[in-house]
Amino acid sequence: MNILVVDDEEILQDVLGLLLRREGMRPIAARTGEDALLALERESIDLILLDLMLPGMSGMEVLRQIRQRDPEQVIVVITAFSSIEGAIDAMREGAFHYIPKPFKNEEVLLTIRKGLDQRRLTSENRQLKEQLEKRYGLDNIIGKSHAMQQVFELIRLAAPSKSNILVLGESGTGKELVAKAIHHHSRRASGPFVTVNSGSMPADLLESTLFGHVKGAFTGAIAAKKGLFEIADGGSIFFDEIGNIPVETQAKLLRVIQEKEFMRLGGVDTIKVDVRLIAATNADLENLVAQGAFREDLYYRLNVITIHLPGLRQRTEDIPPLVRHFLRLYAAENAKSVAEISPTAMQRLMDYRWPGNVRELENAIERAVVLSTGDLIDFDLLPPAVRANGGGGADSVGNGFQLPDQGVSFWDAVNGYERQLILRALRSAGGVQKRAAELLQVKPTTLHEMMKRLAITTESVGV
Ligand SMILES: Nc1ncnc2c1ncn2[C@@H]1O[C@H](COP(=O)(O)OP(=O)(O)OP(=O)(O)O)[C@@H](O)[C@H]1O
Ligand SMILES: [Mg+2]
Repeated sequence: MNILVVDDEEILQDVLGLLLRREGMRPIAARTGEDALLALERESIDLILLDLMLPGMSGMEVLRQIRQRDPEQVIVVITAFSSIEGAIDAMREGAFHYIPKPFKNEEVLLTIRKGLDQRRLTSENRQLKEQLEKRYGLDNIIGKSHAMQQVFELIRLAAPSKSNILVLGESGTGKELVAKAIHHHSRRASGPFVTVNSGSMPADLLESTLFGHVKGAFTGAIAAKKGLFEIADGGSIFFDEIGNIPVETQAKLLRVIQEKEFMRLGGVDTIKVDVRLIAATNADLENLVAQGAFREDLYYRLNVITIHLPGLRQRTEDIPPLVRHFLRLYAAENAKSVAEISPTAMQRLMDYRWPGNVRELENAIERAVVLSTGDLIDFDLLPPAVRANGGGGADSVGNGFQLPDQGVSFWDAVNGYERQLILRALRSAGGVQKRAAELLQVKPTTLHEMMKRLAITTESVGV
């Protein structure tokens, strides 16, 4: 540990020097502010002990200049008891602590240790933040296609604004990834990012989750609880699957967006929050509006800036870079040396239709990496659905169909096919919906919705 001691008194330099050396630290002496600044340029300093009474440049000025060059630098001010005012000013300018003279050795050591802890924490926090930024940075969203380049441009432009943002795209296209990138590129980046899985929650539960409740608001409300809007204050709130929100809750949501205030369930006080709303859906909201299932006014409030993520099959040029990205990721995660994919396998990946989009591709690569024994991923390691046919259609589940001569109702046929596929998945998952959803590479909430739409019940599964 390098400790810079800035003091013009020879005797103090000696005393502090001895003390620090005894504790295994390395004292570096500077007798003027100018010397101190020079030392900072030459050496890496972990902490500074600074006397405020210096010849030449004043102690306060030295403090200011150091803080300007390195705001993380920990400075402990030493000052004569008679000039305690100066110490208070120094604290205001960002000094970590002050020690009045004459001091006890123990006191100096204790303060130094606390200061070093503080320094370690600050730098750990900064590193964590940098890591997070890297993780949610645009670099981590892969896409060289023109469509994705436009998405990046839109994120860069829209993120710093205050506007609500709507992210549209099929399942697995990266909506959540984009929502996080928006948050991390906004001025709220250091604030919270809170996700609401609006999925299949009943209205009252969803509302108490969002707005919180007071004690005794309903049976079971034994204590007051903060809602997600309060938790997200100063940050962003991400509504996943906004299309699923019950109409009665939509009205309340609209109010929060407009008034920026709400009440806890059963409460009388209005609570003000500063939250940016990012919503995502794979549903056709306009269609839901037309059907009366989604409030038109809310739709217009959300739809200030829309980011549309195209399906993976519409941007096949993104497939090779995505494959390389996931290959690297999962090879590292599984401590494998797989580095490459054979040209035949890559061709097949590019021909496949990817109904589950990037998520399905990611799963396919993870699976291949886990199963691989060599350095190369070949055709045989691709999932059966991808190997079976490039179309990823009916044949991929071995369930071909014919078109009768007299024609067929397209929607009935599609519904029938969906029903069969879901029933099969549920049966092979032993009726466990979460597992069936994994087999179909959809979210459990999506499966739940589809089951509702197709009137599939536990009885129809028959397990
Ligand atoms: N462009 C991309 N680059 C890298 N990874 C991506 C990209 N798009 C998606 N992914 C990855 O694919 C997976 C699915 O993405 P995400 O959860 O954001 O999709 P989604 O649109 O929210 O899906 P759903 O509608 O099912 O919730 C995640 O693991 C994500 O990291
Ligand atoms: Mg999602």
